[in-house]
Amino acid sequence: MKSVKGIILAGGNGSRLYPLTFGISKQLLPVYDKPMIYYPLSILMLAGISDILIISTKDDTPKFKKLLGNGELLGINISYEIQFEPNGIAESFIIGEKFIANHDVALILGDNIFHGPDLISNVLKAKENLIEGCSSIFGVSVQNPEEFGVIEFDNSDNIINITKKPNHAKSNIIVSGLYFYTNDVVQYSKQLKFSTRGEKEITDINNYYLSKNKLNLIRLNPSILWMDMGTYSSLIQASKYFENYEKKTGNKIACIEEIAIKMGYIDQKKLLKIAKSMSNSEYGKYLLNHVLK
Ligand code: TTP
Repeated sequence: MKSVKGIILAGGNGSRLYPLTFGISKQLLPVYDKPMIYYPLSILMLAGISDILIISTKDDTPKFKKLLGNGELLGINISYEIQFEPNGIAESFIIGEKFIANHDVALILGDNIFHGPDLISNVLKAKENLIEGCSSIFGVSVQNPEEFGVIEFDNSDNIINITKKPNHAKSNIIVSGLYFYTNDVVQYSKQLKFSTRGEKEITDINNYYLSKNKLNLIRLNPSILWMDMGTYSSLIQASKYFENYEKKTGNKIACIEEIAIKMGYIDQKKLLKIAKSMSNSEYGKYLLNHVLK
């Protein structure tokens, strides 16, 4: 069985966060004690995906490279591509064509945060569906569905359609920013026309798989936290959530070095080297005192 490749899309304008994002990428802003991109990266790592492409803007790609390098320290492969203009989420598969090659692919948006019980077992379900030739999306219930891709259901709970930012939402279940696609997503993205707002829309990809009866919806339980970091409030709320979680449990979420050791990507010796390099911070101390055996 071929491995599943992973893409983190971390470009865009971040215009709702101006002036915070004039000088730095949204996905490099802090969420409590770590850069935002650690959260989506940790989801891919926990799903056993260790070949990862980060797509960002021309200005920001060097900063992601400085942060994560080629992934060697984490025992994974990280490569980079530039998206010169924010031409839409579905452009990821065109930019990533060489990287994807003949593999299936998971895409996660660099500003999406997921956390909670059974999350990873749900993600692994999506990975398994690929073996059956089925792509998967993750539905979450939100108060403000009109801002997202909204899923419409019939009386038997089958999906009828997905509509991007409708004026009147037909349900409060929306498509979150984590997707698992079979390899043909590359070809389909190429054929896709730009929408009226000038983007290759991920909603069109999802409706395509739906029309072929090859789209599986995994509905995430309300006990799973999902947030997209688009606004000042969501940034601060997420930071508070992870700070409280750590204070309560003593554990960190999205600590990529801890995940790397748990997944067997690195050994204790490598972890010690990383931990020592940041021993002056609480994060480094956590690695030294909590993760290292
Ligand atoms: P958005 O939040 O829709 O856009 P944005 O990040 O540019 O923010 P704003 O609306 O404040 O200007 O994007 C969702 C995620 O997808 C985010 O991580 C950025 C990323 N993205 C790209 O990298 N390229 C794109 O072409 C698009 C549309 C989004």
